[in-house]
Parts: sequence; C-alpha cells; structure tokens
Amino acid sequence: MRMVFLGPPGAGKGTQAVMLSERLGILHLSTGDILRENVKQGTGIGKKARSFMEKGELVPDDMVIEMMLETIKKGNKDKGFVLDGFPRTVYQAKKLDAALQKLNLPIEMVVYFKTSTDIVIFRLTGRRLCRDCGANYHIINMPPKKEGLCDKCGGGLYRRKDDSEETIKKRLEVYNNQTEGLIGYYREKGGLKEISGDLDAGMVYEELFGILNDRNKVRK
Ligand code: AP5
Ligand code: MG
Ligand code: ZN
Repeated sequence: MRMVFLGPPGAGKGTQAVMLSERLGILHLSTGDILRENVKQGTGIGKKARSFMEKGELVPDDMVIEMMLETIKKGNKDKGFVLDGFPRTVYQAKKLDAALQKLNLPIEMVVYFKTSTDIVIFRLTGRRLCRDCGANYHIINMPPKKEGLCDKCGGGLYRRKDDSEETIKKRLEVYNNQTEGLIGYYREKGGLKEISGDLDAGMVYEELFGILNDRNKVRK
C-alpha cells in the first residue's frame, strides 16, 4: 500500500503513520523527521533547511523533492510506504507523481486528516518528543508515565523548536496558503479519503484501518 498522509500541522499524521507502518510493515517517510535529522547531523541539506523550519516556512520545493525521491528509491518499497508531510505543494505533488509513474509505483491512496484549528494548536503546544528514540507524547492527551521521560527508552523529552505559539500560527498560515490546495488536486485525481483528525488517536486509527479494509488492500 502506497499512501500520502495530508493535513495541517498537529493533525496527527506522524502519530498515525507510526502505528500503521509498524502494523503493516511498510516504510514511514516523514519529511519533517528526515529534515530534522539532517539539521541535527549538520549536513548540507540541514544547514540550508534550518532557518526555514525554525520560522515555520516551507523548505524550497526542489530541495525537498530531490531528498524525498532519493529516500523513496533507496528504501525497501516492496510492501509500500506512507509519505507523511510530503508532498506539501501542488508542484511537489506533480513531481512526485511523475517520478512514481516512472518507477511504476503510483500512489494508491491519499488520506486527508481534517482537523480543527483550536485542536491542532492545543496538540502542538503540548507535544513532547523523546530525544533518544523520537517517540511522540502530549502532556495531556498522551502523557508519559513519568513526567519528562520516555516510556519506551527512558530518554528525556523536549519540545520542538517550531512548536512555539508564534511559529505554530505561521505554520498554519503556510498550510492554508500553500498546502490546502492539494486536497482539491487529489480529490480531482481520485483516491482521496477524508478522516476526522479531531477524534482521539485510537478512534482515528480505527477509521483509518476501516478504510484500508474496505479497499481490501490489507487484512486486519
Ligand atoms: P513536519 O515535521 O511535517 O511538521 P507538520 O506538518 O507541522 O506536522 P507535525 O509533525 O507538527 O504534526 P503531525 O500531523 O505529524 O502531528 P503529530 O502526530 O505529531 O514539518 C516541519 C517543517 O519541515 C515544516 O514546517 C517545513 O519547514 C519543513 N517541511 C516538512 N515537509 C516539507 C515539505 N514537503 N516541503 C517543504 N518543507 C517541508 O501529533 C501532534 C501532537 O498531538 C502530538 O503531541 C500527539 O501526541 C498528539 N496527538 C496526535 N493525534 C492525536 C489525537 N488523535 N488526539 C489527541 N492527541 C493527538
Ligand atoms: Mg509530524
Ligand atoms: Zn524514547
């Protein structure tokens, strides 16, 4: 199953992609995670991307497209993949479609997590991540068992730099201006499925799995 997860910052794309990819044994390719790893390692991409990310702006299209296409080509695609946070502009989507057509691996489903603005602001301001393994928490919705520490590995939790209220506002504005248009693009192409991202994570996952089952692409 080859999928794209689409939705505003804080919609839960990453949370759902981690659960689904583990269950199905498919690749989870998060553009944001890959970019943040590049920033951490101080690579050429990371150096160029950093200031855009910290401001909540999109990293230039061509850089992201090249990075993601390379990652897709290198990965084990046999069982499929879920693209989380890519594409994010119609230009990126067209380039991705053309490249996947050549590889004979077209996108089969696009899931749009429709989520209210007040909910995403609440989620992003309360999000915490593990410094060591990257696991994702929310101080109220999904708190760790011990405050400030990761349940999985005991690592310290931190807040993403772009999760400040000011940068969240900017990210939402960028989403509305540059990414929302993708919903129409994929709706016209066919294969767009809409899920309510406002529900709790378990219910969103059930709905997601239900859609996959309906398509008879996977078995529970
Ligand atoms: P990226 O890392 O992709 O950030 P984003 O799109 O803003 O999305 P988030 O990761 O913030 O949200 P999410 O939907 O994954 O939510 P999550 O599951 O974590 O991108 C960062 C930056 O990189 C961009 O600003 C840009 O600069 C650059 N970039 C990335 N892709 C790019 C591209 N294609 N082109 C150009 N630039 C690009 O959940 C959020 C919180 O809510 C968590 O705390 C979680 O525990 C909680 N939660 C999740 N689901 C639920 C639920 N159902 N109920 C209650 N709580 C929930
Ligand atoms: Mg994410
Ligand atoms: Zn951890």
